[in-house]
Amino acid sequence: MKDRRPLVVGNWKMHLDGAGAERLAGEIRDGLPPGASVDVGVCPPFPYLCRVSPVLKGSAVALGAQDGHWEQQGPFTGWVSMAMLVDVGCSSVIIGHSERRQFGRETDDEIGRKVRAGLDQGLGVILCVGETGPERDAGVTEAIVARQLSGALEGLASRGIRGLVVAYEPVWAIGTGKTATPALAQEAHQFIRQWILGRLGSDVAQQVRILYGGSVKPDNMRALAEMPDIDGALVGGASLQASGFLDIVRQAAAGKG
Ligand code: PGA
Repeated sequence: MKDRRPLVVGNWKMHLDGAGAERLAGEIRDGLPPGASVDVGVCPPFPYLCRVSPVLKGSAVALGAQDGHWEQQGPFTGWVSMAMLVDVGCSSVIIGHSERRQFGRETDDEIGRKVRAGLDQGLGVILCVGETGPERDAGVTEAIVARQLSGALEGLASRGIRGLVVAYEPVWAIGTGKTATPALAQEAHQFIRQWILGRLGSDVAQQVRILYGGSVKPDNMRALAEMPDIDGALVGGASLQASGFLDIVRQAAAGKG
């Protein structure tokens, strides 16, 4: 929809080294199409946030993190708080990525606490939801996504949710080269928007950006972005090369143009 500005975010996961992260951030910053009507962000690994932050400062590329804890500080070895992320220049944070749900055994309750902590710190929160392959085959996609949404967003109605973004990432499409078809993704995005409409009201449902994630590439971005409820993408593998990522950014803008 025209009144939602598209957003493309690169999730660098556990890739790159410090010099590579700095270089990639600089290339994306310098290669952004001037005046493009699309928001762009990158999420480097924690140790490189401080290195990438000055590279992006004052540019149109936002800095994000890949996770954050719900407490502001305390005895939580190995964790990083939302306040710390703000302190190093982050304006957004990914929460509930399927790799954290699966390998970090994150629960819906923990994800909900993180979402609230991130929003309370004024961060844009990119909440990831999505079903596994067997769940899709069993026909329970909507039930799974609804459970993830209610775990993460229950109790948010009275809070400021201005920074909320949802990323629909079918687990079977992440890093596999198997992208959801635009029609299938649109169906899930529409379901998510309807769910938000029912729980959080029509203003929020109209404003919230819903990104697609899962093997997004320059050659499939445009058709996805043409779908009415797909407002951009969360990009993993294809975000590690500036030229391909910038191409995805251009295709996202073109799809909404
Ligand atoms: P992918 O990852 O683009 O490599 O499939 C997407 C993600 O995990 O956010």
